[in-house]
Amino acid sequence: MLCICSSKITFPSPIPPPSSSSAVVQQPVRQIPGSYGLPLLGPLKDRLDYFWFQGQDKFFRSRLTSHKSTVYRTNIPPTFPFFLGIDPRIIAVLDCASFSALFDPSLVDKRNVLVGSYMPSTRFTGDTRVSVYLDTTEPRHARVKSFCFDLLRRSSAVWFSSFLHYLDKMLLGVETELSKNSSSNFFVPLQKCIFAFLCKSLVGVDTSVSQEIEDSGFSMLDKWLLLQLLPTVGTPALPQPLTEIFLHSFPFPFFLVAGDYRKLFNFVAENGSEVVQLAVTEYGIGKEEAIHNILFLLGFNAFGGFSVFLPDLITTIGRDKTGLKERLREEVRSHIKDENGNLGFEEIKGMELVRSTVYEVLRLNPPVPMQFGRAREDFELNSYGVRYPVKKGELLCGYQPLAMRDPTVFERPEEFVPERFLGEEGKGLLKYLFWSNGPETTQPTTDNKQCAAKEHVVATACLLVAEMFRRYDDFDCGDGMTFTKLERASPVVAREP
Ligand code: HEM
Repeated sequence: MLCICSSKITFPSPIPPPSSSSAVVQQPVRQIPGSYGLPLLGPLKDRLDYFWFQGQDKFFRSRLTSHKSTVYRTNIPPTFPFFLGIDPRIIAVLDCASFSALFDPSLVDKRNVLVGSYMPSTRFTGDTRVSVYLDTTEPRHARVKSFCFDLLRRSSAVWFSSFLHYLDKMLLGVETELSKNSSSNFFVPLQKCIFAFLCKSLVGVDTSVSQEIEDSGFSMLDKWLLLQLLPTVGTPALPQPLTEIFLHSFPFPFFLVAGDYRKLFNFVAENGSEVVQLAVTEYGIGKEEAIHNILFLLGFNAFGGFSVFLPDLITTIGRDKTGLKERLREEVRSHIKDENGNLGFEEIKGMELVRSTVYEVLRLNPPVPMQFGRAREDFELNSYGVRYPVKKGELLCGYQPLAMRDPTVFERPEEFVPERFLGEEGKGLLKYLFWSNGPETTQPTTDNKQCAAKEHVVATACLLVAEMFRRYDDFDCGDGMTFTKLERASPVVAREP
């Protein structure tokens, strides 16, 4: 258990394994605090707290304080009245030790629990249960994940160059707008950049082959993502009572985005025949199933993940007033050896502060904040010297923003400390960085559920930061996702077109 009242921060000895073992036999057993309340009323009250009276973060924090425990029982939405059959009861795990149980395939089953007990209809994915919904014990998981590894391997020749190409296009547009206005919103241009770069890298197709997809493919994905996730996320779109009635009370039907999804499906079918054929011949995946999996990888995993993470990375750096920008610029420029200012894998490898900054943004704001896993059997969940009995079938819910602020592991846990992961001690903390659904020190395999693109995500983020400081002497971000200053660098670091 984590003592939240203590101001004393100590670095822990290595986190003991979460499963029961001879090493933990002596630890005390404690019943998990918290209750689910009265039927219907308990879940409804928790849902209103979660979305309305408290918000997600305060919801988890306040219960952690009142139960004096980082492991407790509560309900989470969606629930009531039209989410029948969805069990809102979870066991929240909010410290690094208990959270790591979620990475142990022998303890938890990951079948259909990507966003909790609620699973969006498989109609959204052509009646296919795509990779993220498959448990490691299902043979299809290994096949589809291997296909994904292969796609990523093959994309490596164009991944960096196409990202830089579309980023350049995006920044030129944003610069033009900023020359006319005091600020320039970069969210839509960045989403277009991410979408185009992913189509090129993963499907091997230039979005310009279809005017409609080039202009609107990204917003088709946004709508498709939104309809699937709306029951589980807060939204400022409507006043809260109306949100609760109209947006959080029932799952949304697929037909609202069926036309767009069909267009995206056809786009991959017509232009991505090489990768589709690869799935069919090398991995024994049916043609339609392959296209749905490619679309999910591209649209949900990659586009969804980057659309949350990259804006956050840009604005965190762009709003910093501690001199971080100067330090990053110095490091980036000292690593650009090529006289044409070219950036690539070799250059970013040595940029330690850039990398540590990327890790720190992932720690403070993990782009996928929650992970779930269902207990395969009864087991004892370990949390720093306390064992909590968990029953077979119970759903563990890890809320990363709190686990990643575990004061037992991270000094000054609430602060943005870009240098945190530097040096030997800093690198030692990487085993507690969980954004990819696993420690940063382990690798995704077909036997686990860690993000298949873990290395690509970090490398792409480092490349983005490096390119910003290669290109600009300085940049500032304002409120929302805006640039308020983009000060071009002197020509010496200009990259070849
Ligand atoms: C910033 C971007 C990304 C973030 C934050 C992210 C995060 C995650 C997380 C947290 C999971 C685990 C979900 C769970 O089971 O609870 C996951 C799984 C996965 N991710 Fe990523 N991801 C990102 C980008 C990508 C990209 C670019 C790809 C591939 C092109 C990818 C492919 C996958 C796959 C295939 C899985 C499922 C792994 C499995 O079933 O074993 N992700 N990702």
